[in-house]
Amino acid sequence: MKPMKRQRGQQRLSGKAWVLGAAVVGVWCASALAAAQEERTVKAGVYTSAQAVRGRTQYESTCMRCHGADLSGGAGRSLTGDVFVRDWTGLTLDRLFDRMQSMPPGATEALAGDAYVDIISYVLERNGYPAGEAELSVAGLTTVTVEGEDGPGVVPNFALVRVVGCLGGDAARWVLSNASDEVRSADPAPSSDAELAESQATALGGREYALMYVFPSPEPYVGHRVETKGLLIRDDAGGPASLNVTSVQSLAATCEP
Ligand code: HEC
Repeated sequence: MKPMKRQRGQQRLSGKAWVLGAAVVGVWCASALAAAQEERTVKAGVYTSAQAVRGRTQYESTCMRCHGADLSGGAGRSLTGDVFVRDWTGLTLDRLFDRMQSMPPGATEALAGDAYVDIISYVLERNGYPAGEAELSVAGLTTVTVEGEDGPGVVPNFALVRVVGCLGGDAARWVLSNASDEVRSADPAPSSDAELAESQATALGGREYALMYVFPSPEPYVGHRVETKGLLIRDDAGGPASLNVTSVQSLAATCEP
């Protein structure tokens, strides 16, 4: 069960940010459950225009210098278009909120929770998602899923995903066979807690994935049922997809389809 973790040099999520994120998620999940709101997507009009106006003011004073007037990035990562869709589709807005807690970097100018929710409203507006009648609230974030043009169920190419399958192959080419379909993940590290329970409960399937850049070598787990996380790279020719691997974790020492 010992996780193998690969620290990617170019990984944009620092370990610190994720520890903070995880702690915050627990708290907001509880309040969201209490609110018991229905699930919806960002296309359903989940924020108000007034909120986006407030968010814009906040964005321009605190974020714009790095993320640009048009949100396309610069010193910071783009918060619009393909990049936004790839990073956030299939995830709920609380993950984006958690990510923003570490912004601006250095935390000397950390904002109140409501200010980040207003900024999220502005980001949604700039991404073309419609405004609605009711304000977005911190408690409501867990009920709203980001959805791209292809719908919430379609994982965008290059998105971080989690897959369960049987590890095979050798150093020349590691493969995951009898694998499940990919699901979105927000954390490149081996799962723990609720996400690990989901991986353990995931049935094997008929998919195959080529595993790229697996380090350290997953050799000890050959023949194991493993959870693999990585960036999804679809094959345009219709062949098996590849994963640019961020972590491999053994779930069981055998792998019976
Ligand atoms: C000093 C520059 C700077 C400022 C100011 C700043 N950011 Fe960032 N931001 C970055 C950099 C650099 C990254 C990409 C590297 C990383 O992920 O840490 C980033 C990443 C992000 C991400 C993750 C994007 C993704 O898709 O993974 C979000 C969301 C974000 N910033 C929101 C904000 C918000 C909201 C503010 C204002 C409250 C803000 N940032 C202010 C530099 C900045």
